[in-house]
Amino acid sequence: MENRKRIGILTGGGDCPGLNAAIRALTKTAIQFGFEVVGIRNGWKGLIDNENEILDRMKTSGIIDRGGTILGTSRISPLKIENGPQMVLDKFKELGLEGLVVLGGEGTLTVTNQLFEMGLPVVGIPKTIDNDVRGTDFSIGFQTAVEVATDALDRLRSTGESNHRVMILEVMGHHAGWIATYSGIANGADAILIPEFPLDQEKIEGLCQMLKRRNERGINFSIIVVAEGTKLEGEAIADEKTGRLGGIGKLLGKIIEEKTGLETRVSSLDYMQRGGAPVAYDRTLATAFGVRAFELIKNKKYGRMVSLHGKRITDVPLAQAAEGIKTVNLSIYRVAEKFFG
Ligand code: F6P
Repeated sequence: MENRKRIGILTGGGDCPGLNAAIRALTKTAIQFGFEVVGIRNGWKGLIDNENEILDRMKTSGIIDRGGTILGTSRISPLKIENGPQMVLDKFKELGLEGLVVLGGEGTLTVTNQLFEMGLPVVGIPKTIDNDVRGTDFSIGFQTAVEVATDALDRLRSTGESNHRVMILEVMGHHAGWIATYSGIANGADAILIPEFPLDQEKIEGLCQMLKRRNERGINFSIIVVAEGTKLEGEAIADEKTGRLGGIGKLLGKIIEEKTGLETRVSSLDYMQRGGAPVAYDRTLATAFGVRAFELIKNKKYGRMVSLHGKRITDVPLAQAAEGIKTVNLSIYRVAEKFFG
């Protein structure tokens, strides 16, 4: 039997729409070039635990529009497991892989870069609805989340307008408010609150004054979008037991109602903005990223991350993704601000 070159692919961290489109593109391109693709299940965990399967054309057909990841994912980091990095290197060898493609957000790609520095031949693909990976304009999944959030905000406007209420939508965004900013601009929201600009009493006061002014002008509804990681008086709002972020919207709603007397309602999109089919933009981006990732692997250009710069698909050192969070571009936020109130 011919000796085919083998590459691996895994998805790590939270899922997002568009992962399957990237898995499909990478697999089908690799097969065309005579490579065999091993799909590793449930992120790094699957590499360590020998959970994998050969991906072929059949398994990757008809999945371009499917949300989530056919491979499964996990947040398990080999760096937190005793002897984890060595186990990863050993399993990689045992599987006879030439290179490994990792689809991840900032956390997973930081780990991936460390493993690259320890000798693992890897290529990264940025994916996260939060769009906070450095070195790329957009990550897979972001545009879909923006569409979902914009649709939700539009729906909140019609009910808010009819019932003369302040409507608050909490969206995801741990350390960066990309979803809030883009969906807020698209909806024409009256306030966009993001982690980059923490809230204090003065800002809350200003927000309440703005809502009252709108009301006095006869506009008896308002739309506010807030990212889950937005801090109030230096504190992020999270579940006491799990530490999971969430609740700033509700808290804000209570404060606004008390301070302004305006009837306020709060909704949270939670995981609905992470699940479901990717929009066309994400399918296209993921496909282009998958093809580029294969080219990098084929040419043994390891330690790189595929990226979007303007309209160009390119690649950058993976180390860029490990430099921290990419916060919201202020020139875009300034656009949003012009329409507040
Ligand atoms: O995918 C990024 C993100 O959606 C964050 O905005 C969110 O807080 C987090 O993941 C929650 O993910 P999980 O519950 O899967 O850990």
